[in-house]
Amino acid sequence: MRVAVIGAGVIGLSTAQSIYQQFHSTVSPLTIEVYADRFTPLTTSDGAAGFWQPYLHDKGNIQETMWNKMTFDYLLKWLSSPDSIKMGIFLQSGYNLCEEPTPVSPSFKDIVLGFRELTDRELQMFPGYKYGWFNTALMVEGKSYLPWLMDWLKERGVKFHHKTIKSFKELSDSGADVIVNCTGVRSGELQPDPDLKPGRGQIIKVDAPWLKHWIITHSNKAGTYNTPYIIPGSRLVTVGGCFQVGNWSEQNNSTDHKHIWEYACQLEPSLKHARIVEDWAGLRPARSKVRLERETIRSGASTIEVIHNYGHGGFGLTIHRGCAQEAARLFGQILEQKGNCPKAQL
Ligand SMILES: Cc1cc2nc3c(=O)[nH]c(=O)nc-3n(C[C@H](O)[C@H](O)[C@H](O)COP(=O)(O)OP(=O)(O)OC[C@H]3O[C@@H](n4cnc5c(N)ncnc54)[C@H](O)[C@@H]3O)c2cc1C
Ligand SMILES: *[C@@H]1O[C@H](CO)[C@@H](O)[C@H](O)[C@H]1NC(C)=O
Ligand SMILES: *[C@@H]1O[C@H](CO)[C@@H](O)[C@H](O)[C@H]1NC(C)=O
Ligand SMILES: *[C@@H]1O[C@H](CO)[C@@H](O)[C@H](O)[C@H]1NC(C)=O
Ligand SMILES: *[C@@H]1O[C@H](CO)[C@@H](O)[C@H](O)[C@H]1NC(C)=O
Repeated sequence: MRVAVIGAGVIGLSTAQSIYQQFHSTVSPLTIEVYADRFTPLTTSDGAAGFWQPYLHDKGNIQETMWNKMTFDYLLKWLSSPDSIKMGIFLQSGYNLCEEPTPVSPSFKDIVLGFRELTDRELQMFPGYKYGWFNTALMVEGKSYLPWLMDWLKERGVKFHHKTIKSFKELSDSGADVIVNCTGVRSGELQPDPDLKPGRGQIIKVDAPWLKHWIITHSNKAGTYNTPYIIPGSRLVTVGGCFQVGNWSEQNNSTDHKHIWEYACQLEPSLKHARIVEDWAGLRPARSKVRLERETIRSGASTIEVIHNYGHGGFGLTIHRGCAQEAARLFGQILEQKGNCPKAQL
């Protein structure tokens, strides 16, 4: 059984890991290969702040909420291991602030730790915000987590290929039995998907070790992540943000920089004394919902089994493990149909 995973961001690597974990002891031989044209530290997953939090408004998608929860619980378990810091995982608390009163609690209220409404005294610290919540969440920083995942996979014999894949056929012709499509925002190159759009984000990384809490602001008018957010990381603080749907540019933009900085300094005036380290722009794979499903593609006389796992928007690190486990389950279905998997594993 040969599995080819396209993509080496958090989605591709974690999917390869889940497939290995669920099937290596029962499927023999099981060969897993990862194909990508960008590896850590150059993927979108590396640039992301690595903050665990789904969108505030998640359209009641219960399945995605469940995958988010699985990921949170999985990461939380790792905290009892000394390796957690090598993986870029640590706890962090902070504030969600709303411009408008928001009566409905977010879907993550029962997933994170210690979720509660803000008190009036807390709100007084943030002029202009009428409502909000405090909770403890997790960080999972791609710049640590991706190298950790790659080492984990390499130690178990997974092979990596630096290559741009032009078609699924290319991989099936070279002997792949199952292809897993974890290509992020560029999935459209392999098979058009009008529902998938870039959600361009730009962030500023600063040196401000005195900031200990994250602050995420929300505005119905401006839309998700178009208002300031400040997320302390293990070394640098991430300051954002913007969410420009349909823009493919991965270049920094000085107009965006000025705008982001001005608004973030209003929220947290001490940022004026922070040293700016770098700008970064990346493309969120924005979609109405994650595409996680099987597809059997006909190619001449033969068929290609594909598992799609893409379109994780601005919450790829937040949801990755739940999606990886589900993708592995779909892989198990394919094995069962091909008649070579013990029922116990499924
Ligand atoms: C500014 C910003 C901040 C963010 N902050 C957070 C955050 O705090 N928390 C959070 O959960 N999420 C955050 N996100 C979202 C998160 O970054 C994405 O959801 C996540 O990185 C998507 O992961 P991925 O593996 O699908 O894509 P990527 O990391 O982009 O990986 C895609 C992979 O596919 C490969 N690939 C694509 N097409 C081909 C091809 N044809 N051939 C070969 N290889 C191919 C690429 O080389 C790459 O290896 C943020 C995003 C941005 C832009
Ligand atoms: C793979 O996923 C990408 C989205 O990341 C999509 O554009 C592409 O069409 C998919 N490829 C195939 C063969 O389905
Ligand atoms: C920055 O973005 C603005 C608005 O999108 C655009 O007009 C300007 O040309 C951009 N600047 C650069 C250097 O790309
Ligand atoms: C996309 O963003 C770039 C960089 O900020 C900017 O120069 C350009 O004008 C934008 N294009 C569109 C279509 O918004
Ligand atoms: C964005 O700016 C940083 C420095 O702040 C630089 O290192 C990086 O190369 C720039 N990226 C692009 C695409 O211009």
